[in-house]
Amino acid sequence: MKAIILAAGEGKRMQSDLQKVMHPILGKPMVRYVADVAKDAGFNDITVVVGKGGDEIEKGLADCEGISFAVQKVPLGTGDAVKAGAGRIASDDDVLVLCGDMPLLTGEFIKNFVEFAKSGGGAEAVVAAVYKPEPGDFGRVYDDNGEFIEIVEARDITAAHSHTDWANTGIYMFKGESLLRGLGSLKNTNSQQEYYLTDVPKILREEGKRVRVFHSREDLSVFTGINTQIQLAEAARFMRERINAAHMTAGVRMFDPSTVFIDSAVKISRGVVIYPGVILEGNCEIAENAVIGANSHLKDTFVGAGAGVRQSVCVSAKIGAGSEVGPFAYLRPGAVIGEECRVGNFVEVKNSTLGNGTKMAHLAYIGDADVGSGVNYSCGAITANYDGTKKHRTKIGDNAFIGSNVNLIAPVEIGENCLVAAGSTITDDVPPCALGIARERQCVKLNYVK
Ligand code: UD1
Ligand code: CA
Repeated sequence: MKAIILAAGEGKRMQSDLQKVMHPILGKPMVRYVADVAKDAGFNDITVVVGKGGDEIEKGLADCEGISFAVQKVPLGTGDAVKAGAGRIASDDDVLVLCGDMPLLTGEFIKNFVEFAKSGGGAEAVVAAVYKPEPGDFGRVYDDNGEFIEIVEARDITAAHSHTDWANTGIYMFKGESLLRGLGSLKNTNSQQEYYLTDVPKILREEGKRVRVFHSREDLSVFTGINTQIQLAEAARFMRERINAAHMTAGVRMFDPSTVFIDSAVKISRGVVIYPGVILEGNCEIAENAVIGANSHLKDTFVGAGAGVRQSVCVSAKIGAGSEVGPFAYLRPGAVIGEECRVGNFVEVKNSTLGNGTKMAHLAYIGDADVGSGVNYSCGAITANYDGTKKHRTKIGDNAFIGSNVNLIAPVEIGENCLVAAGSTITDDVPPCALGIARERQCVKLNYVK
């Protein structure tokens, strides 16, 4: 079984520099959804037909196995596009045709359709029609008890055509030989002067071959085709609802799923609680019973079991089990927080590791540092990690106590069990168990104010 995905249309109505089918929906380009659905339904040899700027699409699908690309130089219609993509089709192949701008298609629909097509009756082609009494700009499918008659494009409908409740989804199965022959006979005598793929089943029927119609009553949202930014946002809403529903079915609790945005690749375990306004982007992974508080925005971040993140922004960070982050913390790339840590309000962590049980409760910055376990890093402490040209590392040993308003001028090393006095600016290493103090002695002038 082979599949062809059509993605060479110009997508002018998107008004965008990005290729239409590369527009992301919850972190994944729409054409990737279509390819994944085809693979999910068992298709491992997929040709994506691309047009001008198609290398963008090739790049976007580079890590997707079993995909090859064909170029349709000028978009002369869906039939011409399939012709451009038919290079790998042999006469004994079964060929599925899909559109790259229908990201809401489900693997289940494709499986049912393919099963129907295979149950055969000697059909050379099967057209998937959906119940849609108001077909809008979908092509109309005419059949006689499931035996295909013709598809008429919305714009080619005349008063002479009767009403039909069945619309063309743009999804077809063909026998390779018939498809190749039908494509060879296509003409562009229609209102758009395009080569319509919809004419191929008609050509086959006129040859006396059997062509069947698969009647589906699937929810119409599944066939949402995207031509405009408005339709893109609409499709994103459907996809969001679908993703959120899948997580909730698997035991994730959401107070208000209508405000939660979870990218398609995100993994969430059972027992996780998600407050309103949460955005989980990229490859986030949230382990069991973690709590993601209101308005948190996480990207490519791992949250360990039972950890809590409140009103915080985390990018490419790792939060160990049982740790508490926020409110209002900013974990930047390379922040690796151990277990049972506390990273509190207005704390920024960048490219640093924190050992288990370490606490930075408020108003602190730690960058390019290796911090041991059981460390207390007090309010206002910072690492001065950048000298204007280079970044330098700071090391803090286990159980050290860094007082308030300490400046650690990197590179510098604070040993285990050290105490660094509040207000110190530390430029030299402090050996284990020592007190590091670097501040002016206080002077009290009696009766000075009087
Ligand atoms: C097509 C069908 C219509 C069906 C509808 C379902 C035809 C003639 N009409 O209409 O019956 O109801 O899909 O959505 O097939 N493409 C190319 N090269 C081209 C033209 C299109 O690759 O030269 C690709 C587009 O990128 C798109 C797909 O084919 O992914 C469908 O093309 P589009 O122009 O959107 O067809 P519709 O007018 O929607
Ligand atoms: Ca379309």
